[in-house]
Amino acid sequence: MNMKRLASAVMVLGCVSAFAKPPVAKAPDAKAPAEKAPAAKSKDPEVWITIGSDAVGFVNAALMGEGLAAPARVGEKGQVTALRLPESQLPLVSAVMHNQFHRCGGFFYHGTEAEALAAMNAPVVETPRSLAANYTLDNPYLVNTMQAGLDPANILATITHLSTTYPTRYFTSETGAAAAAWLADEWQGYVPLDRDDVAITLFGHSWLQPSVIATITGTTFPDEIVIVGGHLDSTTSSTTNPAAPGADDDASGIATLTEVLRVAMAQGYRPAKTVKFIAYAAEEVGLRGSQAIAQEHKANNRNVIGVLQLDMTNYKGSTVDVGIISDFTNAAQNTFVTNLIGTYIPGVQWANTQCNYACSDHASWNSAGFPVSMPFEALFDGRNQRIHSAADTLANTDVTGAHALKFAKIASAFVAELAEGTLTITDTTEPAVAITAPAAGATLTGSVSVTTTATDASGISRVEFLVDGAVKFTDTVAPYTFTWDTGATPNGAHTLEARAYDRVNLPATSAIQVTVSNSASVAGYDPALRAPRCFSVSESCDSGALLNGRANLGPEVNFPNTINNSCSDGLSGSYHSDESNDHIKVATVDGTPFGPGKLVRIEATVWCFNVTNDKLDLYYTGNAATSGSPAWTFIATLRPTAKGRQVLSTTYTLPAGAVQAVRARFRYGGSPTACGTSSYNDHDDLVFAVQP
Ligand code: BES
Ligand code: ZN
Repeated sequence: MNMKRLASAVMVLGCVSAFAKPPVAKAPDAKAPAEKAPAAKSKDPEVWITIGSDAVGFVNAALMGEGLAAPARVGEKGQVTALRLPESQLPLVSAVMHNQFHRCGGFFYHGTEAEALAAMNAPVVETPRSLAANYTLDNPYLVNTMQAGLDPANILATITHLSTTYPTRYFTSETGAAAAAWLADEWQGYVPLDRDDVAITLFGHSWLQPSVIATITGTTFPDEIVIVGGHLDSTTSSTTNPAAPGADDDASGIATLTEVLRVAMAQGYRPAKTVKFIAYAAEEVGLRGSQAIAQEHKANNRNVIGVLQLDMTNYKGSTVDVGIISDFTNAAQNTFVTNLIGTYIPGVQWANTQCNYACSDHASWNSAGFPVSMPFEALFDGRNQRIHSAADTLANTDVTGAHALKFAKIASAFVAELAEGTLTITDTTEPAVAITAPAAGATLTGSVSVTTTATDASGISRVEFLVDGAVKFTDTVAPYTFTWDTGATPNGAHTLEARAYDRVNLPATSAIQVTVSNSASVAGYDPALRAPRCFSVSESCDSGALLNGRANLGPEVNFPNTINNSCSDGLSGSYHSDESNDHIKVATVDGTPFGPGKLVRIEATVWCFNVTNDKLDLYYTGNAATSGSPAWTFIATLRPTAKGRQVLSTTYTLPAGAVQAVRARFRYGGSPTACGTSSYNDHDDLVFAVQP
């Protein structure tokens, strides 16, 4: 149907995925036992829809097929027909539209006949109602500081509360209204007492559940309005189970924008333009809450310069992180949003996608003529299939909240760059910081990954890592981690500390005691060089069990165990039938520590498949601590003499260099080379320290 002509009309019920199954003509207000219809309203009121005239025949046939009367035609203009029907029949109409008109199978809902007729006569909206927004990115301090204050734990807590406290948040239910009241209260709790410029209000509707609005009045341009919204209600398409946790759809969106509001208040954000955070009621029944609010903004000529819709943010259903919904949205603002991602959230991948129908509240703003964007948790094809059911739980989405956090970062950047303004960070609470690994009291060898969590109301600016009081490393980007090469620390007890600084430079420290116990002659895996390594000088270096197997065949966990992943292994055959190099040991012949010019014996333990074709090529380098592939010098090619386990051995003289290595390449056929591609090749390196 002609969506443009209807663009300024009321609301849309889309190709409702929930109704794609055989239609159930069920009154929306009969969904959940806990709910109550608004007082003094008919149980099944008449409503009006405008619909493409070509669809009317299908709708009539479907209703009559269910033993129902065809809807009354109340008007027709151009390609659009207005119909009157009982509200309980809308799901059936949705199903018809979904099945017959796969693309844009929506229809517009109207509460009165006058609205329906007006919609048919409405002019086509050609230009946005608002003044052109300034899409230049020039507020990095604001964006980076607000983003640094975001904590996924808070997002998870809000999703958990909304999805487990209320059996449903259906728009006519008592629990749906209770959820709105809780949210308003939660938001109010974020607002410092001296913020007269901030108001939390309920926007009442003709049904029980209100929408919730937080307004921060702009300091310089209060008439320009930036909006971030999501929907508060939930629904289920089940006829037997009324539970509608709606953890992803759309507790996730509400939780995401709630965290942005919390940070804005915690950091004393005073926007130059007015910012509104909106939790819409009644999205699931035709975008009705957002429709009422968008129309109110239009009717009062409010200058809404940008709207962001967050509906479903915590289920990573596609390889890309963010699907930019390109229909029923504003192309120029979408480009702005993708620029925000590229500039402020490097590493987050996005791609355009479409619902092909008015799938969420962005459509209400779009049809009211305001620029709106909807960054979505997946591409449409990768969408969460559990929504609108009892299985839409947090456990079935990202339990770490990391996915939703990306959308909180997008929303923060959107607000900061569009509404601009200032921060006043009066944070007197020190950060919360904890070392999450290694465990206190742990005995450590080789390279150790030190991980932390660090959060603060005003944001974390950096985390320092200290060993025995000396700063070894500083990380400025979460997650805050440090790869500690314990080989450079003497064996014995040591204090490991992580010290986090917040945006007002308040530090907090988490400290643990650990014991370093490196055997100089048994290699530990070095995640920096990606190979087994003896960190301190000894008379020998042994790979232990680290090299046993080839590629993903056998127990070789860190395969291929070649320096900087510079050479990969063949993937064919099976462990301990086909070829593998399982172990390397290097030792001085005279038993004194490794040093330049000393004769060393290299022993490789291989698994031989075939004595005729299997050969072992050995190489050494005096400079293993390099980037990319080291320069290898050939030592010898050795041949096994029997199938199965074989120890092959030769000697060479150590060159100069503090960090040296040997490479064993065990191959089936072929000729000597430090790195070959045949499907049974195994390449393994062993790195060791040598006296200068
Ligand atoms: N969150 C969904 C919309 C959605 C679902 C977008 C999957 C992208 C992928 C929304 O709450 C919803 O369910 N919308 C209805 C249509 C609405 C007009 C009643 C739908 O998609 O069926
Ligand atoms: Zn939904």
